[in-house]
Amino acid sequence: MHLSLTAPDDWHLHLRDGARMRSVVAHSATLFRRALIMPNLVPPVETVAQAHAYRERILAAAGGSGFEPLMTLYLTPRTTPAEVRRAAADPHVLAIKLYPAGATTNSDAGVRGLEGSFEVLETMAELGLPLCIHGEVTDPNVDVFDREARFVSDVLAPLVERFASLPIVLEHITTAEAASFVRAARAGVAATITAHHLLYNRNALFRGGLRPDYYCLPVLKRESHRRALVTAATSGDPRFFLGTDSAPHPRSGKHAACGCAGIYTAHAALPLYAQVFESAGALHRLEPFASHFGADFYRVPRNTARLELRRESWQVPGEYELGDEVLTPLCAGETLGWKVVGLGQ
Ligand code: DOR
Ligand code: ZN
Repeated sequence: MHLSLTAPDDWHLHLRDGARMRSVVAHSATLFRRALIMPNLVPPVETVAQAHAYRERILAAAGGSGFEPLMTLYLTPRTTPAEVRRAAADPHVLAIKLYPAGATTNSDAGVRGLEGSFEVLETMAELGLPLCIHGEVTDPNVDVFDREARFVSDVLAPLVERFASLPIVLEHITTAEAASFVRAARAGVAATITAHHLLYNRNALFRGGLRPDYYCLPVLKRESHRRALVTAATSGDPRFFLGTDSAPHPRSGKHAACGCAGIYTAHAALPLYAQVFESAGALHRLEPFASHFGADFYRVPRNTARLELRRESWQVPGEYELGDEVLTPLCAGETLGWKVVGLGQ
């Protein structure tokens, strides 16, 4: 069996920088025509000038593959309305990313509370520049498994109302609450969904022992939430689209007493999503989810190239290079049932 799709885009990707970026970029370039690149480097990508320089480094590493990095800026307490205007006028910067300080990997540069950013958000709303959100509250007293739902009710709902024309993407949603909120929200509110949150529930973290390779943020939730995400992704609702949140970390950083958050899926993203959509009996809805809805939301043309997948077993390697270290990819050593045959130009 064969599957031919409009070439997909990854609307949430971590590529890192330097030798690590050079190790992983080919995986994304093999599956995706474009990707929205997250700005959580150290130091963060805060300005259009920094985003341009980062983009050039990615293009150099992607080496004529045709892969197009679409850039985001990191919202910090220093972000100015003038920078927002530069970003909105720039063809390569598509969005600004909100990391609540302390919420996840490299989020220390983020904002603590949104009041200090109201002028920036007002300018983004005026110019229609999307805000991508890591949607978790950071209060250590809130249970880790409740942080997204609390963010939706306490932060996102008022934000969506206050900035009524601000395009918003709630990234990597993990809960039924987030899916319901987005489904019912005003126009201009959407969500990305990862392959790992569609495939696994929180039992994966503890199967036979502690499994750091399944640790990401927002953390995997219980089965009822996973099912709600599958329903959202396969519903054909254009508010839900593909964003892998593929996040390369060296194995040494994950297999540790205090392991980092992040799951690497760029090597097999389309085979993994295809598996989810097939299990749900919705393979015909994979193409709009992976290749149409995100482009429509960001108002960029849909791709004309195509991606071909085939029903064929292949074994995921146990590791991939990551600079001078290695990473453990999701499904390391396992056999997957869909294989990418090729991505056209
Ligand atoms: O698990 C995660 N890893 N979640 C994020 O929000 C960030 C990402 C990373 O950069 O490693
Ligand atoms: Zn991310």
